[in-house]
Amino acid sequence: MNTAIIYRSFFGTTKRYAERLHEAIEADIYRYNRIDELSLLKYDLVILCAGTYLGWISLGGYLRKHWRILESGRVILIVIGAVPANDPWSVRCYEKIPDIIREGIKYFKLPAKIGFRDADKAVKENLAPVIKYIKGVTSPKVARLDKKKTKKRG
Ligand SMILES: Cc1cc2nc3c(=O)[nH]c(=O)nc-3n(C[C@H](O)[C@H](O)[C@H](O)COP(=O)(O)O)c2cc1C
Repeated sequence: MNTAIIYRSFFGTTKRYAERLHEAIEADIYRYNRIDELSLLKYDLVILCAGTYLGWISLGGYLRKHWRILESGRVILIVIGAVPANDPWSVRCYEKIPDIIREGIKYFKLPAKIGFRDADKAVKENLAPVIKYIKGVTSPKVARLDKKKTKKRG
């Protein structure tokens, strides 16, 4: 399964998470503004890694803008932030993403601290559930099922 990791990071933690993920799976990795829309088409799985700031998810706009292309494959959104995933503030941020997109993606929120010195939070252990999920969807069996579905649709 062709996989791309795309990240947007202001203070470095999200970039560090994206790099750690890149070490763990077979994928190409890009800063969000270093890959054009047409190139997205060659990926079956796109993993977006986004920092969050005052309720704004840094790749939320990107996800909306490129959804027509992204929805043809699988999409994982990993949001990096200091507020825990189950906190109502985090839930509200996530719910700002349109329903139609939320239904089509797998979402994770991973921990960070606030500021430049938080990159050490980007430890591989935090990525374990994400890696487990990716290994599941990229297994040959699931990829075969996906192909069958695409054939049916097409
Ligand atoms: C101004 C500011 C606002 C923030 N707002 C949030 C927030 O709303 N929710 C959250 O979970 N984390 C928040 N954080 C924590 C950041 O998401 C955290 O620092 C993260 O590492 C940022 O990603 P980056 O290092 O890749 O830029 C905020 C941090 C800053 C500096």
